Amino acid sequence: MRGKFIVLEGIDGSGKTTLAHTISDAVGGAELTFEPTSGPIGSALRSGAYGDIPPAAEALLFAADRAVHTRQIEEILDSGRWVICDRYLGSTVAYQSASFGESADWDWLLGMQKKSVITPDLTILLDIDPEVSMARVSRRGEELSRFEKLDFLRKVRSAYLRLADILDYQVVDAAGDEKQVAETVLEIMRKKGLYAPQ
Ligand SMILES: Nc1ncnc2c1ncn2[C@@H]1O[C@H](COP(=O)(O)OP(=O)(O)OP(=O)(O)O)[C@@H](O)[C@H]1O
Ligand SMILES: [Mg+2]
Repeated sequence: MRGKFIVLEGIDGSGKTTLAHTISDAVGGAELTFEPTSGPIGSALRSGAYGDIPPAAEALLFAADRAVHTRQIEEILDSGRWVICDRYLGSTVAYQSASFGESADWDWLLGMQKKSVITPDLTILLDIDPEVSMARVSRRGEELSRFEKLDFLRKVRSAYLRLADILDYQVVDAAGDEKQVAETVLEIMRKKGLYAPQ
């Protein structure tokens, strides 16, 4: 039987990586994947190797990384394993539309990925005030990436919420503690037949 595909979206520090592990444990082990990937395009994007490039170039590179990733995801799903993916299609739309600002073209950001993505069984949007998530990230002691600026993340957050309506994301309040967030998400999964508590 084909595995299930679950995507976690949300601004930096919203708790995606933490939640990916929790869900994986709850479903008895899943393949955890993430974007940008550790492949050539994803690694270059992470390291900032492309420098200051136009938002359109950035969007296309993220989408290309995703196209390669999608084929890997399909192989895992075909083998019957589940995939929990930390960022997917929504990240490019939310972040790059924030980079584009007024000139953001949502039809293009969504449309150009049509042939290279698959539809997840469930996408969770971890919604949180950037001030709260940034406080978490700074506790993590890592240097902030160029995407982790407060004003910018406010724009990303609203783009995500708009996208949630269009693409039927399940929006979860991520300001609660880890246990609360996990319980809310597992309940959503239970209702969708993706999780059966023991
Ligand atoms: N619900 C929560 N309440 C409080 N702290 C949390 C919660 N979830 C995660 N954290 C902590 O907040 C920090 C950010 O969480 P995490 O790394 O999971 O976020 P992320 O969305 O994966 O971030 P990034 O996009 O930067 O990878 C971590 O130090 C994590 O331990
Ligand atoms: Mg993470």
